[in-house]
Amino acid sequence: MALFRMLASFASVVFFVSTVQATTAHAPRGKANTCVIEANGNGSDDAPAIRAAFSKCKRDGHIIFEDKKYYVNSPLNTTDLSNVDIDLHGYLLWSNDTSYWLKNSMPIGYQNQSTVWFLGGHNLHVNGFGMGTFDGNGQAWYDIVKGVSNYPDRPMGLTIQGAVDSSFVGLNFVQSQMWTMTIMHSDNVLMEDIYVNSTSHNGNPARNTDGADTMFSNNIVMRRWRVDNGDDAISLKANSTNIVVEDSIFMTGQGFALGSIGQYVGKFETIENVTVRNITTIGTKYAAYVKTWTGNQVDYPPNGGGGGLGFIRNVSIQDLKLKGVRDVAVNIGQCTSFSGAKGDCNSSLFHVGDIKFTNFTGDIAGKYIGSMQCSSAAGGCSGIEFGDIDLIKTATSTVVDDYKCSNVQGPIGFEC
Ligand SMILES: *[C@@H]1O[C@H](CO)[C@@H](O)[C@H](O)[C@H]1NC(C)=O
Ligand SMILES: *[C@@H]1O[C@H](CO)[C@@H](O)[C@H](O)[C@H]1NC(C)=O
Ligand SMILES: *[C@@H]1O[C@H](CO)[C@@H](O)[C@H](O)[C@H]1NC(C)=O
Ligand SMILES: *[C@@H]1O[C@H](CO)[C@@H](O)[C@H](O)[C@H]1NC(C)=O
Ligand SMILES: *[C@@H]1O[C@H](CO)[C@@H](O)[C@H](O)[C@H]1NC(C)=O
Ligand SMILES: *[C@@H]1O[C@H](CO)[C@@H](O)[C@H](O)[C@H]1NC(C)=O
Ligand SMILES: *[C@@H]1O[C@H](CO)[C@@H](O)[C@H](O)[C@H]1NC(C)=O
Ligand SMILES: *[C@@H]1O[C@H](CO)[C@@H](O)[C@H](O)[C@H]1NC(C)=O
Ligand SMILES: *[C@@H]1O[C@H](CO)[C@@H](O)[C@H](O)[C@H]1NC(C)=O
Ligand SMILES: *[C@@H]1O[C@H](CO)[C@@H](O)[C@H](O)[C@H]1NC(C)=O
Ligand SMILES: *[C@@H]1O[C@H](CO)[C@@H](O)[C@H](O)[C@H]1NC(C)=O
Repeated sequence: MALFRMLASFASVVFFVSTVQATTAHAPRGKANTCVIEANGNGSDDAPAIRAAFSKCKRDGHIIFEDKKYYVNSPLNTTDLSNVDIDLHGYLLWSNDTSYWLKNSMPIGYQNQSTVWFLGGHNLHVNGFGMGTFDGNGQAWYDIVKGVSNYPDRPMGLTIQGAVDSSFVGLNFVQSQMWTMTIMHSDNVLMEDIYVNSTSHNGNPARNTDGADTMFSNNIVMRRWRVDNGDDAISLKANSTNIVVEDSIFMTGQGFALGSIGQYVGKFETIENVTVRNITTIGTKYAAYVKTWTGNQVDYPPNGGGGGLGFIRNVSIQDLKLKGVRDVAVNIGQCTSFSGAKGDCNSSLFHVGDIKFTNFTGDIAGKYIGSMQCSSAAGGCSGIEFGDIDLIKTATSTVVDDYKCSNVQGPIGFEC
């Protein structure tokens, strides 16, 4: 019944996206209001015009960014839209005034992180036609944080906040400030044909430029993404349920992530019902990895935390092609703690289980297919399964068939 409902809602996402694509070819679209956003074109802030358009066209609206460059020099908070199409033909460039943004980005209410744009609403359809681009001017951020993972008040780019029955299609995101986008408090959202590239042009790494993070969200489909970045390609965090990630290519960064999770002492969080399939990972650290905080809280978010409760369960990661993965194919660790803190991998009460890794081919630099450090306090990991794994070691072309385990209960299809 629930499965049927989930499939039915996925089908409805697919249905209304094809409707959007069909109708964009034939203007006008029959929306009550159309707002075409003017661009100053000289570097002065276009955000006031963007805010005005979103305010005027927030119900039954059609908002159009033309094929122009828009300078975004102040924060945008455009939530509670209803039945709105947004066409992004142009290029949005965020200013590189890091001291301004450190003071003026907006808290997201989690992990002490903040953002430059909250966008959300019901029946919201954003289309970039493969051209529309978000440019966070990230190099300015990579240069000031110099590899520090979580720099207080460094903002993420787009925060999709409270999007319901919505879609984001054909968009490019380059040089994001921090996490490229975060999907929060959202339900039934399709994100398709998305290109993300955050690459440092000097020795300061593009760290913490995750392609996307999900939290407190349900029923999210991410399809045909190409992510080249300096951190997690896609990371599912607190209360991410019924998520599909498929037909995508992840390059350079850390690979696909479940977590980190369990950062808030005593808080219960889950990741449940996840399917990841047909992914090519090129030069990523792992193909996929799981990370939870330890059981002992040390300091506060964004850089500290721990002591969280909950579980990860019912995850299937299948049909992966690994090309030059830099470490092991799969890593599970429950040791995340305040920067610099090490060990304490057996204290987490957060349970990791019921994860299937099947049909992996390709080459890796590491000597294990899976390296798993599960927390004894949580009873270890259970229901971990590997099947149809055909991996060779990059340097020697020899078969990799070992697993390193600590507290893995009842391994399925492999021996520790
Ligand atoms: C996970 O999927 C099962 C089977 O469809 C369903 O019963 C359950 O409610 C789902 N869990 C969540 C958190 O949606
Ligand atoms: C930029 O262009 C806008 C619109 O034409 C104008 O109002 C504004 O004064 C210009 N600003 C600068 C700094 O030239
Ligand atoms: C910020 O951008 C301006 C152009 O808008 C450029 O002149 C300046 O060098 C840049 N500053 C940094 C720190 O990147
Ligand atoms: C953003 O707008 C929403 C609703 O319009 C409001 O509740 C929220 O406080 C605003 N957030 C910020 C940081 O201004
Ligand atoms: C933010 O950090 C402060 C202390 O640095 C902490 O008290 C607070 O709980 C944190 N808030 C969130 C939302 O993580
Ligand atoms: C990402 O950008 C870098 C630098 O511009 C470029 O070398 C690389 O090919 C791009 N990656 C993809 C997947 O397009
Ligand atoms: C797998 O994903 C690639 C994109 O990386 C796509 O071209 C291909 O059609 C997908 N294969 C299937 C069977 O869907
Ligand atoms: C996450 O979801 C669970 C199950 O629905 C709920 O009990 C919990 O309160 C949620 N966690 C947070 C931090 O909201
Ligand atoms: C696991 O999740 C999948 C969707 O990802 C769902 O089809 C299946 O029913 C779930 N299984 C259980 C036991 O909840
Ligand atoms: C294994 O994954 C590859 C993609 O990497 C796919 O083409 C192939 O059909 C899958 N094999 C099975 C048995 O599903
Ligand atoms: C965790 O406990 C296991 C035994 O349950 C032990 O082998 C391992 O060394 C411990 N790990 C750490 C980091 O303390």
